Amino acid sequence: ALIVRRRLRDSGRWSRAVAIVKEFEEKCATPIGKLRQVADAMTVEMHAGLASEGGSKLKMLISYVDNLPTGDEKGLFYALDLGGTNFRVLRVQLGGKVGVVKQEAEEVSIPARLMVGRSNELFDFIAAELAKYVACESEDFQLPAGRQRELGFTFSFPVKQTSLVSGTLISWTKGFAINETIGEDVVSELTKAIERQGLDMRVAALVNDTVGTLAGGRYYDKDVVAAVILGTGTNAAYVERAHAIPKWHGLLPKSGEMVINMEWGNFRSSHLPVTEYDQSLDAESLNPGEQIFEKLISGMYLGDILRRILLRLAEEASFFGDTVPPKLLVPFILRTPDMSAIHHDTSSDLRVVASKLKDILGIMNTSLKTRKMLLELCDIVAKRGARLSAAGVVGILKKQGRDVAAAEKARTVIAMDGGLYEHYTLFRKFLENTLTEMLGEEVASTVIVTHANDGSGIGAALLAASHSQYLELEES
Ligand code: GLC
Repeated sequence: ALIVRRRLRDSGRWSRAVAIVKEFEEKCATPIGKLRQVADAMTVEMHAGLASEGGSKLKMLISYVDNLPTGDEKGLFYALDLGGTNFRVLRVQLGGKVGVVKQEAEEVSIPARLMVGRSNELFDFIAAELAKYVACESEDFQLPAGRQRELGFTFSFPVKQTSLVSGTLISWTKGFAINETIGEDVVSELTKAIERQGLDMRVAALVNDTVGTLAGGRYYDKDVVAAVILGTGTNAAYVERAHAIPKWHGLLPKSGEMVINMEWGNFRSSHLPVTEYDQSLDAESLNPGEQIFEKLISGMYLGDILRRILLRLAEEASFFGDTVPPKLLVPFILRTPDMSAIHHDTSSDLRVVASKLKDILGIMNTSLKTRKMLLELCDIVAKRGARLSAAGVVGILKKQGRDVAAAEKARTVIAMDGGLYEHYTLFRKFLENTLTEMLGEEVASTVIVTHANDGSGIGAALLAASHSQYLELEES
């Protein structure tokens, strides 16, 4: 009798779990019709954001980059890339027509307390790391005598630029929250910190990582017209015709073009498939009501969406046994790289899933059935994110008039970067398949997605080179 009762109880729990998962799946669904609505809404918001300041949730920020790298850039340049959980310093010796002569980079992780501490502390930390890095410059790198070192500063947060070398922070995103920096010019903050280090260096370009990636991508392929970051956060930049930017009152650039940093992470639309889990994630985040698109897509959040649904399953369907595993209550304990490892487990007994559950959440002895369900949940969450990012890309292509077959079979190249894109293979596959599904085989065959590895750093260095204070000297 006991065994029968237990069986009955277990099957009741299981069907409850199945019902919860099914409902979640339905709410996350992104059928092609919905994706088209999302893409259309993206195009509409792009127009609105370009029309007037504050015209849309999409900020459509003017980057002041009206010329992308040509391949003639020359000299030694540095770049500093601040944006996610790590920051990178980089130096590159550009040889003009012969290309990159030598390039080196180093990654430093940012102590979590600095992300929510004092502004000066963050900038001092960055400047100190930069100074250390500069101090070990080898003889392979050459700076003509008497010159100041120049830096491309990749700062991957929404910034209202006032020139290529100045701009004020609009808001922090991705887990950074330092109130006193908001409204400040981030170049002058960095410059002051560099001076405090006694380092002789000048910021020659301030760029978003998307803009840097676009520049880096263009250096290697002249058909690059947009860049997308899928990492801790998500965002895109693209090349716009300057006269299609009503809110731009400056001079019309000679090129007739301007790179726009969309800040698409802040996109929102009634067409987005938002669930109760997303709503509570947003409400409990550092920036409630903001970055809604980002919270459905990017690496900072996917793992936590998964945690939230698992918690619900544990609470309401005793998914992991009679008690709720306490670690499931800890926000962000389940990171997207772990979710990716779970999702990619192809072993017959799903032993990676089992070991992740044990190591991260302290959950032992799961049945194969339970582990399979976990895989399914990863699929739902990753697919939704990947498909929505594809819809975003299609929105840009529509704005550029590149979503239809061109007579001369022009190539359209999109440079992508970010840990999510780089390391989460299934996410990347879903994204690429969805692009083809939305564009159709013919157009899709002319749209090429390339991985611009560390493009944002090199891109910033390239833009520093093309805006160097010594450029005229060089040309004469
Ligand atoms: C966040 C930032 C944005 C950045 C993106 C990717 O969305 O607001 O500026 O480009 O993350 O790093």
